[in-house]
Amino acid sequence: MIEKKIELTLQVYDSLDDVPADVQTLMHKSFEIRDKAYAPYSEFYVGAAIELENGEVILGNNQENAAYPSGLCAERSAIYYLGANHPGETIKRMALSAKSLKHELTTPTPPCGACRQAIAEYEQKQKSPIEIYFMGEKGKVVRTESLANILPLIFDSSYL
Ligand code: THU
Repeated sequence: MIEKKIELTLQVYDSLDDVPADVQTLMHKSFEIRDKAYAPYSEFYVGAAIELENGEVILGNNQENAAYPSGLCAERSAIYYLGANHPGETIKRMALSAKSLKHELTTPTPPCGACRQAIAEYEQKQKSPIEIYFMGEKGKVVRTESLANILPLIFDSSYL
């Protein structure tokens, strides 16, 4: 038996003011779409802004449903729209933000496991890293250089 240790590196910025200006702009777009989420059950609003290499920005937010599992996260709403409408385009980066109506969310909120798996598919498909910045309503912003970096033991098509 050998023990394997997996490490990952993230960049943590003290506030949105500290990230590059173009990322700030993208994050502001995620705020705008986040506030239009349909989240009457959780009162937890998530926005995803995806910047393509061609400069276009695709937006998505979480869409809930009275049958809870029928709802969808912001990240997958955005990336599946992108997959459907811009299948050949390369994703440069994503900006994600979350806000709760129940408490002040100052902890950077990472994409859930299912969304990481979904984003991983597109990263593998385009054969280049997708940079992701994520935050709560305010406070620190976290950057990962790629999706693969935040999904250790990734399952991908190489296993099929
Ligand atoms: N949610 C997202 O939109 N993205 C995530 O990565 C985590 C969770 C949504 C799903 C649900 O509408 C609400 O947040 C509470 O889980």
